[in-house]
Amino acid sequence: MKIVVTGGAGFIGGNFVYYLLKNHAEDFVICYDKLTYAGNLETLEDALKNKNFKFVKGDISNRAEVYKLFEEEKPDVIVNFAAESHVDRSIEDPELFLRTNIIGTSILLDACKKFGIKRFHQVSTDEVYGDLPLDRPDLFFTEKTNLHTSSPYSASKASADLLVQAYSRTYQIPATISRCSNNYGPYHFPEKLIPLMIINALNEKKLPVYGKGINVRDWLYVEDHCSAIDLIIRNGKVGEIYNVGGHNEKTNIDVVKTILKILGKSEDLIEFVTDRKGHDQRYAIDPTKIETELGWTPKTKFDDGIKKTVDWYLKNKSWWEKIISGEYQNYYSKMYEHRL
Ligand code: NAD
Ligand code: TYD
Repeated sequence: MKIVVTGGAGFIGGNFVYYLLKNHAEDFVICYDKLTYAGNLETLEDALKNKNFKFVKGDISNRAEVYKLFEEEKPDVIVNFAAESHVDRSIEDPELFLRTNIIGTSILLDACKKFGIKRFHQVSTDEVYGDLPLDRPDLFFTEKTNLHTSSPYSASKASADLLVQAYSRTYQIPATISRCSNNYGPYHFPEKLIPLMIINALNEKKLPVYGKGINVRDWLYVEDHCSAIDLIIRNGKVGEIYNVGGHNEKTNIDVVKTILKILGKSEDLIEFVTDRKGHDQRYAIDPTKIETELGWTPKTKFDDGIKKTVDWYLKNKSWWEKIISGEYQNYYSKMYEHRL
């Protein structure tokens, strides 16, 4: 199969490219990526040496570029990871999120309709379900939970999901959707909680924890997310939604303290800062459907995954040092100076 991975120069897409090359030598993989601030060709350095891999620079919200990709490559499968993905940036400037996440997805779907496709897979998020209260640990998101978004990011992802369902029904696009909880692991861009805390701790910088640090996220090691998507594109039923999560709920403060412990750093580095606007309290996935229908199980427990992740950041300093030495400094000042 010829599989196009949009957003494959980012965190999860990059890991998915490596997952495919390792587990499916029979497939040809194309990464289609605009290389925004979050895209990094260094992430794909080893993939670029593989004869079953090709990189194409392009924007999912540029119709001419997307149609050219379909005309030239005639893909069998599209896995759409390309997105603006950071909630805090969406709160500062929603418009780009609407263009990339909604219009971009609709253009990919138009291309599938015009040129044909065997499978379109939309990588979505549990954030489309909104949040759960902290005092109801018995509640979980299922595929039947209503959409109820909190941030411009989650609203844009929910809109994209609705478009995928509409194109699937109206134009018979063979589509599937996965909604995953928070991922962590190698190549995670430094603006997100786990890499930000690892990198700041290594640099003896303060660790900015929003609010009281009691918000809960359901952490999934990125390779387990990749195995779920791989199963869905091969065995998942057209028109279906699959929730992906590993029952690894942690408060933010627990995650930060675990990282400090692994690195042997002091908890004095923790600094509680102004909370995120509209901050979702708790995400928690019920993965029963993908477990029972597709036989998926996550392999990595949080305690092991977080150690592997810290180790990766220790061994790959050049990857993140280059990122944080550039434009990222301006981003960091803009986002964090006013929170103190
Ligand atoms: P990321 O920000 O690390 O990577 C996004 C990639 O998309 C980058 O390589 C970027 O260059 C590319 N991109 C952005 N706009 C583009 C455009 N217009 N055209 C082509 N490429 C473009 O994101 P991530 O964390 O790897 O997330 C990937 C997907 O998974 C997203 O759709 C996100 O909503 C979803 N998701 C992420 C998480 C998580 O915990 N990170 C959890 C659930 C779902
Ligand atoms: P993040 O990695 O941005 O993912 P998401 O908002 O999509 O869940 O944030 C994870 C949690 O960590 C979220 O509750 C916000 C919190 N957080 C902090 O406390 N400090 C930070 O500097 C960041 C980036 C996030």
